[in-house]
Amino acid sequence: MITPVIMAGGTGSRLWPLSRELFPKQFLNVDGELTMLQATISRLGELSCGAPLLICNEDHRFLVAEQLRQQGKLASNIILEPAGRNTAPAIALAAFTALQAAIDGSEPLLLVLAADHVIRDESSFTNSVQVAVTHAEAGKLVTFGIVPTAPETGYGYIKRGAVQGSSFSVAQFVEKPDLATASAYLASGEYYWNSGMFLFSAKRYLEELKAYRPDIYASCEKAVGTVDPDLDFVRVNKAAFLACPSESIDYAVMEKTADAVVVPMDAGWSDVGSWSSLWEISPKDEQGNVNKGDVMSFDSANNYVFAETGLVSLVGVDNLVVVQTKDALLVAHKNNVQDVKKVVQQLKADG
Ligand code: GDD
Ligand code: MG
Repeated sequence: MITPVIMAGGTGSRLWPLSRELFPKQFLNVDGELTMLQATISRLGELSCGAPLLICNEDHRFLVAEQLRQQGKLASNIILEPAGRNTAPAIALAAFTALQAAIDGSEPLLLVLAADHVIRDESSFTNSVQVAVTHAEAGKLVTFGIVPTAPETGYGYIKRGAVQGSSFSVAQFVEKPDLATASAYLASGEYYWNSGMFLFSAKRYLEELKAYRPDIYASCEKAVGTVDPDLDFVRVNKAAFLACPSESIDYAVMEKTADAVVVPMDAGWSDVGSWSSLWEISPKDEQGNVNKGDVMSFDSANNYVFAETGLVSLVGVDNLVVVQTKDALLVAHKNNVQDVKKVVQQLKADG
């Protein structure tokens, strides 16, 4: 039985000022009719799986519950974190919870998904997951590999090993390499990007976590052992979880395990991590502009413009990101959008 685990605890700070602490990007509708979280749930439609398990910050519980309710899903499958400890602990909480729920003794397989990805080709996504099931049932930790198109330093890189049907064993997993290393990996043609989605049995994930990060394993085991009763949400023990070290699954487990398999995925995947990636995936006018809202532009090309509260007009400028909201305005060069998170850091520092 596949249990989708949807990680929705990120802050999405590179999409400021649209994405805010109280309203991060996974809860926004950036690219269609559904919010990113709802789109993540909706693309499970073709897959035979159980009810999704959501894991997010407790501050976002009503947002998540409401977005699930709109899709006819139950709020009782929402695990609340008192504070983010990154993805290795989040997935551990989900794994313990899924095992507790599997009272019939079956082995839950976790399909771990990020709530903030765009996937254009849902059948292709479904096919890759189906290929991955065989490996996960054999105890492997499966990652989904994307053919890289640029030396992105914000992604994990997976080196192909021995062929296993249409998949490969993972010869090496490197999380967020520096630019020179990423460029060498790209040139070699032997690496995939890690899509940040995984399939494995809850039991195998916890075994590997226990082997490589017993500290994280122990904190999470303690945190779910004493779950506070709450009708709608699964609340973990605050003190135990706050004591958990913060680490991503990529560093904590995927870089270390000897038991990983990569299933290639060609599904029009995109991590909508920044304004430029949003520009890339959006439909453009003849000048390459993406205009959202009330926008007028002249002699301007390849811009991303978002107008929330009034007319925005561009004259004679190229490659800009202009995002107007009711209380903040961002103007950035498209090459520098990774640094938008600095604004958020500064705002936090200023209190
Ligand atoms: N519940 C919960 N708690 N979710 C979290 C937390 C947390 O503490 N931290 C992050 N998430 C969620 C985010 O909302 C996102 O959906 C997902 O987990 C991945 O976190 P990111 O912070 O976006 O990771 P990343 O983009 O830097 O890197 C990961 O994804 C890349 C592809 O998009 C890695 O897996 C990379 O290897 C991968 O290439
Ligand atoms: Mg991400």
